[in-house]
Amino acid sequence: MSENFTEAGVTAALAPRYVRFFEQVGSTNDVGLKWLAEGAPGGAVVVADEQTSGRGRLGRSWTAPAGTALTFSYLLRPEASALSRIAMLGGLAVSEALEQLGIAEVGIKWPNDVQIGRLKVCGVLPEASWDDGSLTGVVLGIGLNARVDFTGSPFADSAASLEDALGERVSRVDLLALLLKRLDYWAGDLNGAALFEAWRGRLNMLNLPVSVINAGSPVEGIAEGVDADGALLVRGNDGQVRRALAGDIALGNA
Ligand code: BTN
Repeated sequence: MSENFTEAGVTAALAPRYVRFFEQVGSTNDVGLKWLAEGAPGGAVVVADEQTSGRGRLGRSWTAPAGTALTFSYLLRPEASALSRIAMLGGLAVSEALEQLGIAEVGIKWPNDVQIGRLKVCGVLPEASWDDGSLTGVVLGIGLNARVDFTGSPFADSAASLEDALGERVSRVDLLALLLKRLDYWAGDLNGAALFEAWRGRLNMLNLPVSVINAGSPVEGIAEGVDADGALLVRGNDGQVRRALAGDIALGNA
C-alpha cells in the first residue's frame, strides 16, 4: 500500500485545512510556534516525515527515522483557562483514534503517553506562545510510532509501533485525518467536563503504587486520582496526598 505521505497527498487529504508539510524539518513545534506568531488559525497543522531536532517532554529529544512515524503539530487559539486541557486533548484524541482502529488495551500513562498494553506508542508535547503575558496560541506536538523498529534500541522493552499491534500496514495520511477529527471535536469543547472525564477514564495507573520521577524530589505512593489541572494525586505511606504536576511515573512497590 502506498500511503502518499507527500505534500500533495497530505494537503489534498486534509483540504481545506491549512497545512504545512516538510519532508525534513527541525521540529514541527518550532514551525508551528513561528506560524502562530504570523497569524496561523486554530486547526492549522504542521506535518513532517522526519525531524532533525524533535523535542520530547522534560528536555528530552524525540527522533524517528524518515518514513516510520506520524509527527505533527496541531495549532490552537485557546482561552488561557483551557491551557491545562491541551495535553489531555492530545492523549485523548490519539487514544480514541487507536480504539477506532480496533487496537485493544489502549491507555494513557500519566500525564499523556499513549500506550498499547504497557508500551508507549505516542508522546504529546504542548508548547504555548505568549505576548506580554497573554496567551496567543498553543502548538500541540504529537509523535506516533507507526512503524518504528525498536529492535536493539534502548526502547525495545518500553515502546510499541502501531503496525505491530494492528498486524497490518497503516496509511499515515488516513491516520492523520482520523486523529484530526478527534482533535477538532474536543478542541471545540476544551473546558467541558466530558473531555476531562474521557481523559481520566483512560489513565492506566490509577489506584496503583507509583513513583513520580524526573521532576524534582520523587513522589511515591498510590496514584489516587487527578485534579482538574491534570495533576496526579499520590497518597504516600504517611497518609498525605501530594500533587505532581509534571514528571514520569514508574510502577512502584506496594
Ligand atoms: C514525549 O513523549 O516526550 C513527547 C514527544 C512529542 C514529539 C512530537 S513529534 C511532533 C512535535 N514536534 C516536536 O519537536 N515534538 C513533538
